[in-house]
Amino acid sequence: MTTGVRHALHRRTPRLAWRVIVVALVSLIAARAIHAAIDSTKYAVIPRPVVLTPRAGSFELSASTVVHSDPAFLTVAHRFARDIADPTGMDLRVRSAASVADVTSGIRLVRVARSAALGAEGYWLDVSSTGVVVRAATAAGAFYALETFKQLLPAAIYRVAPISNVRWQAAAVHIEDMPRFEWRGAHLDAARHFMPKEFVRKYIDMLAQHKLNRFHWHLTEDQGWRLEIKKYPRLTVVGSCREQTLVGSVVGDPTKRVYDGKPHCGFYTQDDVREIVAYAADRFITVVPEIEMPGHSQAAVSAYPQLSSRPDTNPGVLQLWGVSEFILNPDDSTIAFMQDVLTEVLALFPGPYIHIGGDEAVKTQWKNSPKIQQRIKDLGLKDEHELQSWFIRQMDVFLTQHGRRLVGWDEILEGGLAENATVMSWRGMAGGVAAAKAGHDVVMAPGSHTYFDHYQSLNKKIEPLAIGGFLPMDTVYSFEAVPAELSAAEAKHILGAQAQVWTEYIQTPKDVEYMLFPRLSALAEALWSAKSRRNYPDFLSRMVTHERRLQAMDINYRKFKPTVLQ
Ligand code: ACM
Repeated sequence: MTTGVRHALHRRTPRLAWRVIVVALVSLIAARAIHAAIDSTKYAVIPRPVVLTPRAGSFELSASTVVHSDPAFLTVAHRFARDIADPTGMDLRVRSAASVADVTSGIRLVRVARSAALGAEGYWLDVSSTGVVVRAATAAGAFYALETFKQLLPAAIYRVAPISNVRWQAAAVHIEDMPRFEWRGAHLDAARHFMPKEFVRKYIDMLAQHKLNRFHWHLTEDQGWRLEIKKYPRLTVVGSCREQTLVGSVVGDPTKRVYDGKPHCGFYTQDDVREIVAYAADRFITVVPEIEMPGHSQAAVSAYPQLSSRPDTNPGVLQLWGVSEFILNPDDSTIAFMQDVLTEVLALFPGPYIHIGGDEAVKTQWKNSPKIQQRIKDLGLKDEHELQSWFIRQMDVFLTQHGRRLVGWDEILEGGLAENATVMSWRGMAGGVAAAKAGHDVVMAPGSHTYFDHYQSLNKKIEPLAIGGFLPMDTVYSFEAVPAELSAAEAKHILGAQAQVWTEYIQTPKDVEYMLFPRLSALAEALWSAKSRRNYPDFLSRMVTHERRLQAMDINYRKFKPTVLQ
């Protein structure tokens, strides 16, 4: 007995020691792999891939390089060839090849079986001196593989204009990659300041470069309605123009308002929208249109006063920033009108998600209207919050009947959440937590980490005028979209997150670019890469190379120091 125990102890000690040694070695190798071994100039991939193993040598792209593609990936192959034709001057041949097993050179796009290891958007990429092999189960995966490949080439690959004397070499590597979140987005308010469609295309290019896949297009506001609706032309004839914009008050007399005296107009025709939606789809980006209701509707009620809760007065399109109290009335005819608008929206935007706003709906006009108070009673509702909820539900039922999913800002929780709604949590994360706990899908968009209209520095004197706040790049990078209080099952409802670009104080495309970058690069990594794979100093070292890509794309990014800022 005693002997047996001694023997057991005797045996156990060396086994434990071996285990300690093995664990220590594995940790050391893992730590070196994450923090030291990878040359951040050769492998400056943003967002950071799940697995990146450097290999010796490099591949050089030349005019004779052929892209051999599985038939399912031909569109992706042609897109790549077209994108690199401008800077390189090379017109790569693309060949359809159902089996690329016997092809031993060039760029090969291979379709493999779907698997959990690849998900819906994952890929494997092998670059060696003899060629490039992409393995993906979906076209999106193949697209992201080639986006990564572009980042292994010189930054000039992002130019539009041709450049000579560049050797288009990519360092050899093995990469296995897939995103952490399915919703990786950026929003653009094209209503406060209209953004021309040429810039919207560039916006989509910038998203695609960062493997972002949702473009949230904010199209209607108090200060302007920007989407052509054939059935209701006055929405743009009247609603797309404000005569002037408030810029301040007379010094010493805040009651005397000063306006810029400049009309601000613009809208997207339905042809423009179709063009943008197709351009985005080519880059695996789903466009999520936002049509605000029942608040943020002053431009709409100015065009069609019968929609208004104060039809006795026409306020005109709002000429100052802030939230208007003009709100849609809850008449059946208004619900029908907005559903007519959505019918045209559905025809234009094939994606699954339609955003109906729902935020900051000031209820004063509903409170003060005897007719609307009677309507609340007739509908058997308790108060104005329930009326807002009822309004949103009419849209939810309509969109669900048409096979789509309603998205709304987190105010749609107040007064009861519509059955099939997805919640966009902007007033912090609490709305998202409540929605996920109630079994609803959530997109995180908290002001604290994703409002890119906030200042990038505390020294406001060196920054363009902004709406307020302070959101530096390192805070964006640290964003964790899944709150710790959610169970694993609840956390599955967090689809992802997105950046917000509200344009009250962001007047031009160049101003948008300044507010976007470098923060969008940080957010892209926060949404693609697992928290354990994120490392801010390492990210900054890759940003040194990435900065040259932003320059090649003529992006007006905010200059940053390649040091740890916090
Ligand atoms: C919002 O910022 N009003 C969604």
